[in-house]
Amino acid sequence: MSALRIAWAGAALLLAAPAGAAPATSLQPVSAFASIKDPKARSIALFGEVGKVIQHPRCLNCHPAGDRPTQTDRMHPHMPWVVRGDGGIGATGLRCTTCHHDANFDPANVPGNPKWSLAPAEMAWAGKSLGQICTQIKDKTRNGGRDMPALIHHMAEDDLVGWAWHPGGNRTPAPGTQKQFGELFSAWAASGAYCPPS
Ligand code: HEC
Ligand code: HEC
Repeated sequence: MSALRIAWAGAALLLAAPAGAAPATSLQPVSAFASIKDPKARSIALFGEVGKVIQHPRCLNCHPAGDRPTQTDRMHPHMPWVVRGDGGIGATGLRCTTCHHDANFDPANVPGNPKWSLAPAEMAWAGKSLGQICTQIKDKTRNGGRDMPALIHHMAEDDLVGWAWHPGGNRTPAPGTQKQFGELFSAWAASGAYCPPS
């Protein structure tokens, strides 16, 4: 019995281990990049820091490559099977809000937010390089028509983005704080908004 229990615990630990490199847990402040004199190099370095959030499972799970959200730090396909549906809110009869409510529901490990839905296909980030995501984020035809001030506002203030730092349940929060993330993104924009090579 106890041997079985130990075997189970071992299997659970293996399942819980992240598939690739562990996601970042902290962010460097903007001041850490001040010593990079070349503005383009500084801008690209700042976006690399921003990328620790953008490429975190908490964001990628909702900005997936296909029509299904992904789950957990391992980003495996969403269980139960759900699809994007019109407007990213799920198929008729199985809307995201059937299970995802206005707030996290920790007893069942279900995350929640009033705006819970899947990012549109043109905003897919999973499986792309940071350079490709950067170019896409700046492209008004693929970012919901946002100019730079609107993008900065979204990153720094949007409360669905902010969920990633308060994800509830057994989920790992995005690194740093949303405030730090907003400051890094702003500093990137102010330094010319250069993208890493894709
Ligand atoms: C619950 C799902 C969900 C999560 C989690 C999520 N997003 Fe989104 N995101 C969306 C939806 C839906 C849209 C489209 C709505 C809109 O444009 O306002 C979107 C749009 C965006 C946009 C604007 C378009 C673009 O791609 O440039 C940005 C920027 C963005 N999200 C950033 C983030 C960041 C950063 C995180 C993680 C810290 C994150 N999102 C986590 C659902 C999500
Ligand atoms: C039948 C219930 C149900 C429906 C419908 C549903 N979900 Fe989920 N979802 C869950 C549960 C339960 C979890 C938590 C799974 C876990 O992490 O163990 C979850 C987790 C997630 C996560 C993972 C969050 C993270 O970072 O780990 C995302 C993203 C997500 N759902 C998006 C959606 C979207 C978008 C829709 C609608 C298209 C949707 N879900 C519809 C039950 C549902």
